Amino acid sequence: MTQHAADYSVVLEPPARLHKDASVPKPNLSSMEEYKSMYEQSIRDPTTFWGNMAREMIHWQKPFETVKQGSIENADAAWFTDGLISPCYNLVDRHAIERPNDIALIYEADELNEGRYITYRQLLADVSQFAGALAALGVTKGDRVAIYMPMIPETVIAMLAVIRLGAIHSIIFAGFSAESVTDRINDSTCKLIITCDESHRGGKRIPLKSVINRAFPNCPSLTNVLVFQRSPEASTAMEEGRDIWWHDIVPKFPKYYPPAVVNPEHPLFLLYTSGSTGKPKGVVHTTGGYLLGAAATCKYIFDLHPTDRMGCAGDVGWITGHTYIVYGPLMIGSATLIFEGTPAYPDYSRYWSIVERHKLTQWYIAPTAIRLLQRAGDDYVKYDRSSLRVLGSVGEPIAPESFMWYYNVVGQGRCAVADTYWQTETGSHIVSSMGPVTPMKPGSATLPFFGIDAVIIDPISGQIIEGNGVEGVLAVRNSWPSAARTVWKGHDRFIDTYLKPYPGVYFTGDGAYRDKDGYIWIRGRVDDVVNISGHRLSTAEIEAALLSHDSVAESAVVGIPDELTGQAVNAFILLKPNVVANADLEKQLIMSVRSTIGPFAAPRKLIFSDLPKTRSGKIMRRILRKILAGETDQIGDVSTLAEPKVVEHIIHAVHHAHEKNA
Ligand code: WT7
Repeated sequence: MTQHAADYSVVLEPPARLHKDASVPKPNLSSMEEYKSMYEQSIRDPTTFWGNMAREMIHWQKPFETVKQGSIENADAAWFTDGLISPCYNLVDRHAIERPNDIALIYEADELNEGRYITYRQLLADVSQFAGALAALGVTKGDRVAIYMPMIPETVIAMLAVIRLGAIHSIIFAGFSAESVTDRINDSTCKLIITCDESHRGGKRIPLKSVINRAFPNCPSLTNVLVFQRSPEASTAMEEGRDIWWHDIVPKFPKYYPPAVVNPEHPLFLLYTSGSTGKPKGVVHTTGGYLLGAAATCKYIFDLHPTDRMGCAGDVGWITGHTYIVYGPLMIGSATLIFEGTPAYPDYSRYWSIVERHKLTQWYIAPTAIRLLQRAGDDYVKYDRSSLRVLGSVGEPIAPESFMWYYNVVGQGRCAVADTYWQTETGSHIVSSMGPVTPMKPGSATLPFFGIDAVIIDPISGQIIEGNGVEGVLAVRNSWPSAARTVWKGHDRFIDTYLKPYPGVYFTGDGAYRDKDGYIWIRGRVDDVVNISGHRLSTAEIEAALLSHDSVAESAVVGIPDELTGQAVNAFILLKPNVVANADLEKQLIMSVRSTIGPFAAPRKLIFSDLPKTRSGKIMRRILRKILAGETDQIGDVSTLAEPKVVEHIIHAVHHAHEKNA
């Protein structure tokens, strides 16, 4: 990140074969000129642009007349409000009617050679039966249903069954602790939780239901726990009257259940995400706008066709899985991969074996996985990958060297690489190359998607800086269909976080540079959000977890660059008087983060020292980052510190921690 990636001046044209080869479908965009004219219309006349797009990509139960109402600055934008839509019909039924035997889900189990294909016909039956079961358990339109599941087809079936009833799912990533699960369930008062006995990942078994057993007593809104049995050989204790086996209830219901029809602004799902302060926010996505954004980005960025087989190795616990494993591909009617395992099991060639066996046409992963595989060595990049056309990267800036490795070694120079920039809140990609047409610059997310008026703002003056060759923070000047509408029970928080910082625009929280050609280079977060292997965490949440330990007086958490995981968490801790640091205490502190948030949030390193505070009590994290980076000569002005000499103590403590770890 310190490297000025924009200095990397390679420009790569998308491979010509994507337009010429008889064996590939005709691309959804034919040229850069077509992109430019569509983009220009989408900004000048969004009503016509999105109106046409929505009529083309969505089946309307009642056609809309009004495309757009409200505005971004008033945080009241709403789309297609006088229409009616059935989300599940659009995702499942219409394909089941037109192409019943086409594959919808490609399940690749953790164990090699296990798994199965599920056709659209089968998916309709499975989703209907499960919707019937949920309805029998009292789930109705607008209810919230929590999902705590691994990457198996039943997870997708559960999501689709929830929305088939017009209910709202809230997926909680299956790595979160009982305490995090409890907070999320209580914030949105979920009625029911769907989970699994245990998950299979990388050859290991991870208990899931036992986490829910711990959360349940603290979640008064929950009535039942629905449990899918992944491991019949594991004997899982069930609580009479509360826990229900999936296989005991679901087969009792008919293979067709009518899909709910809702207003396009009806919430489709909630997804909790970390911000720079306070508790996680339940980001609310709506039905019409979100599904349109998911479908349109799949079509134009990944060039996804109904005949394609999309491969995203993400997890539905995060937004990437929602939009690019489930909602986008199923809107298009293509097949989509559900991969339960990891890139390293049974060995580092797993991804490419998946691509060959299922003849995947798109492949979408995070730079952290790309770095892991690059480091493992090119010998693992084997198997036939000739089915691939577009490779995608997501979650953090991709270094030019990783981009080139992905392009040359994985893609053999035959695929476009799309570096897709977006967020939980944006619903779908907002800056990315359009696979088959945009000239790529490795390290740049390139150009805005249709309908996104991306602007660079000078963080000091708060003014939009027009023109090219400008650096600042990234914002969006208009509303777009898939943008989050609000935060669950927290519209003020929504406004404060995204709209107040720079009035009139949506603030992303990322720094960015727009180069001379108008290409956008994402610099990373400018707030206290850290990104660990594509998992978004707030430093404030980790600090709160550390503070919950009796021995801790104060703490400051920073993200520092890490070769593999992008960033790593380092925690500075000031102990209470008379407490002495030792290995046992370190273990307890790590445990309190693991049990409060989840194992993936555990600090890589703990440093026991004073904290650099200003006279008003604000911790200067910049100083901590500089010291950790070994850039003690660049600490800069410390005169605002209450006690400038703490800097020496911190440098000393960091040295000590380094030596201990070495
Ligand atoms: C943050 C959003 C959206 C999918 C996964 C993460 C960072 C995301 C890129 C990219 C540089 C990226 C940003 C953003 N980010 N994609 N292509 N290049 N940075 O979703 O958890 O909501 O995190 O991820 O910092 O703000 P998320």
